[in-house]
Formats: sequence, C-alpha cells, structure tokens
Amino acid sequence: MEVNTLTVTDNRTDQTYTLPIVDGTVRSMDMRQIRTSDDDFGLMMYDPAFMNTASCRSNITYIDGERGILEYRGYPIEELAERCTFLEVAYLLLFGELPNESQLKSWVYEITHHTMLHETTRQFMEGFRYDAHPMAMLVSTVAALSAVYPEAKHVHDAENRLQQIKRLIGKMPTVAAMSYRHSVGFPYVYPDNDLSYPENFMNMLWKMVEPKYAANPVLARALDILFILHADHEQNCSTSVMRSVGSALADPYLSVAAAAAALSGPLHGGANEEVLRMLDEIGTKENIPAYIQRVKNGHGKLMGFGHRVYKNFDPRAKIIKRTAEEVFRVTGHNPKLEIALELERIALQDEYFIKRKLYPNVDFYSGIIYQAVGFKPELFTVLFAIPRTVGWLAQWQEMLTDSEQKISRPRQVYTGQRSRRFVPMEER
Ligand code: CMC
Repeated sequence: MEVNTLTVTDNRTDQTYTLPIVDGTVRSMDMRQIRTSDDDFGLMMYDPAFMNTASCRSNITYIDGERGILEYRGYPIEELAERCTFLEVAYLLLFGELPNESQLKSWVYEITHHTMLHETTRQFMEGFRYDAHPMAMLVSTVAALSAVYPEAKHVHDAENRLQQIKRLIGKMPTVAAMSYRHSVGFPYVYPDNDLSYPENFMNMLWKMVEPKYAANPVLARALDILFILHADHEQNCSTSVMRSVGSALADPYLSVAAAAAALSGPLHGGANEEVLRMLDEIGTKENIPAYIQRVKNGHGKLMGFGHRVYKNFDPRAKIIKRTAEEVFRVTGHNPKLEIALELERIALQDEYFIKRKLYPNVDFYSGIIYQAVGFKPELFTVLFAIPRTVGWLAQWQEMLTDSEQKISRPRQVYTGQRSRRFVPMEER
C-alpha cells in the first residue's frame, strides 16, 4: 500500500477507498466517489467557516500558528519589518523576490506617480454626509474607481493587471486621507510626489497652511512598519473574499472594495477600533478584573485577543509593542498603554484564556500607536486596508494565474422542505 494515502471504509456499503494524501491534504473531490448507489451525489465535506479546508495552493505567506511564525515569500516578518520599506515588501509580495536597487527605484516612482485621483472621484467623495465613517467612504470610493478605469475588467491581461495594481497601491492612501479630511471638515490635500509613501499619506492627512509638510521621521517609519506587518496574512476573511469575488472575474477595484468591506467587520480589521473603545470603557486598571470576568461570563469578547490561526503570540503584536515604545518617545505616553499592558498581564495568567490559547493579536496594540500618532479610531481600519491591499492584490493575481482555480462556489447541505404544494393567496 502506498504510504501517502488515506484508506476509508464506508460502513454503509462496506466499500473501501484509497485516497492520495498530498501536502497533508486529501482532495474533497476524491470523496465524491464514495456513494451508496449510482444516483447518490457522493460524499461531501462539511466545514462551516472553513475551519479545516485549504482553498488554494499559495507561495505568498507562510504562517505557523502554533509557533507564532509569519513569513512573506519565505522571509521572516521580523527581518522585513526591521530592514525594509513597505513598498519594498509590496514588491516582494507581488513579484516573489526582493527588488534590487534599480527595480525598487522604478517601483517607488511608479507607485508615487499613481497617487492622484481623478477630480470626479474627489467630487464623488464630497457627496458623502459630513459624519460618514471613513471605512464606508473607502469601500464605496474604491468600488467607484471601477467606473473610472473600465479597462480593468480585462483581468487576464497581465500588463493591464499590473497597471491597476499600481493604481490601487498608489491611490489607497489618497482615498483614505480624503475620507479622513472629509470627516473632520478639512479641505482635501493633493499628493506630494517628493515624499515617501508614509510621509505623503501623513501629508495628505495633516497638512494645514504650511507650504511643505514635514513628517516626523520616527512616526513615518513606525507607520511604514505597521504597513509591513499588515500587508498580507494568507487566507484570512477579507483575502478569501478577494479571491472569491475575483474568481468570478470581477475587476480589481470591485474585488478590493468587497475585501475591504469584509475587513471592516469588528471580528476582523475593525477590531483595532473596538480595542480602543474597550480600553475607554474599562477606564482604569482597577476595573480590569471585573471586565475580564464579564467576558468570561460570556458578555462580549476581549477585543484584540484570540486568532483563528495563532494559538501562540501573534508575531506582529510583538513587533508592534516594540514600535510603540519608539513612538511614545516622540509623542509621550498614551495612558491607554498602561491599561492594555495590565489587561494583557491578567488575561495571560487566567485559566480561561490559557485553556483557549487566546493571546494578543495584531489589533491589540496597533490602535494604541495609531492614537498616539494622532489618528482618530474611525481611521484605524482604513489604516489596515491600505497595506492589506497589497496582499489582496498578490493573492488575486496568484488566483487568476492558478490553472486549478475556477469560480468559487461552495456546496451546501440543504435542510429545508422539498416539493411543497403551492398555497394560493386566499388559503394562506
Ligand atoms: N475574548 C474572549 N473569548 C474568546 C475570544 C476573545 N477575544 N476569542 C475567542 N474566545 C473564546 C470563544 O468564545 C471560544 O470559547 P468556547 O470554546 O468556550 O466557546 C474559544 O475562545 C474559541 O474561539 P472561537 O470563536 O471558536 O475562535 P475563532 O477562530 O472562530 O475566532 C476570532 C477568532 C479572532 C474571531 C476571535 O478570537 C475573536 O472574536 N477575537 C476578538 C476580535 C479580534 O480581536 N479580532 C481580530 C483578529 S486578528 C486581525 C484580523 O483578523 O483582522
């Protein structure tokens, strides 16, 4: 018997099947042959929330959740965060290799020269209510870019795809910054091509009447590191949406908008905003034990804790904690840090969290840095969407060029009624 196989006996029929095991997986389609009769559809796998289903083969991001390891294209996240810029990492994620000097130079030039929005898009954004949530504005505006670049629908044309990828990476900070300026009633600031990616973003957010905005280099670097940490995370909820919508051959603007919509949820990218609200609600260190007890009693969750994949420290959370110290040297201490540290300390000693392997995730500390840098909580998820756009696009491109991929279309177990007699209105 071949070693790399799985032998299954169907006790309904006493038939035995031998299924190949490749890379630690068996193919769900191999189950289809397991049938009780000729007209039986065949066995399916039932996996709500995709707890144990690999939907693709990917060579972009590696995670070992038990050991707390994260690598982009084989490079440890710690080293990338320390030694690269975000655009360098974006190149790595999209093209598979770190750029050499001239490749990086022209890549940065290209992205920088795609930061402008068409005036009609700016006007489109002006139409939102004064109190629109920046994430709602971002999702809708990115979708609206589909109308500005109708040629983006040619998703099988590699050159065309690359053009849209550059546009999206270039324009995300502009859309994000304008959504912020809109929510505070300030005039929009146009991009400045002399500035680096994070500096230009800060410029569009905070430039007032000064002729040239000068970003604090420590804060700009901290933002760039946060962008690196958020750039990709393999098949998370929003990335699965990107692949799923993209598999129907929707254009990249619409697919990114759909992915960003998924990201906005409080169980996903929206968690960073919720962490800040939670820390506000807790208020002082003395209130922490009672808050934790409430969570243990089933009233809400400890936001920024737990992860589907990490059952150990999220390696990104560790880097963020270090980055926070550098930021606080510039901005002064964020009093919320004290509460967060104490919350983490108590939770990590608590049987409830130990048993369930619940550790702080990327969102636990990112919000505290963002707030210290000067971002409003409503902007936190938008800050997540900017770099994750790179991951979405890398995964989208991989999906489109994978000959095994088709339109994404799960099966269901139908539990409703069948073949009912229609009831006319007068009998209901
Ligand atoms: N606080 C308290 N209990 C928790 C938490 C938490 N943050 N997370 C999970 N649990 C409990 C959960 O109630 C369950 O307990 P029991 O076995 O008694 O029913 C157990 O731990 C297993 O949790 P689960 O809900 O089955 O785990 P999941 O993999 O479905 O959910 C998660 C993962 C991230 C949605 C969840 O941990 C959560 O809601 N965390 C808070 C929100 C958050 O921080 N999200 C950001 C995730 S990281 C970045 C990102 O993806 O954007």
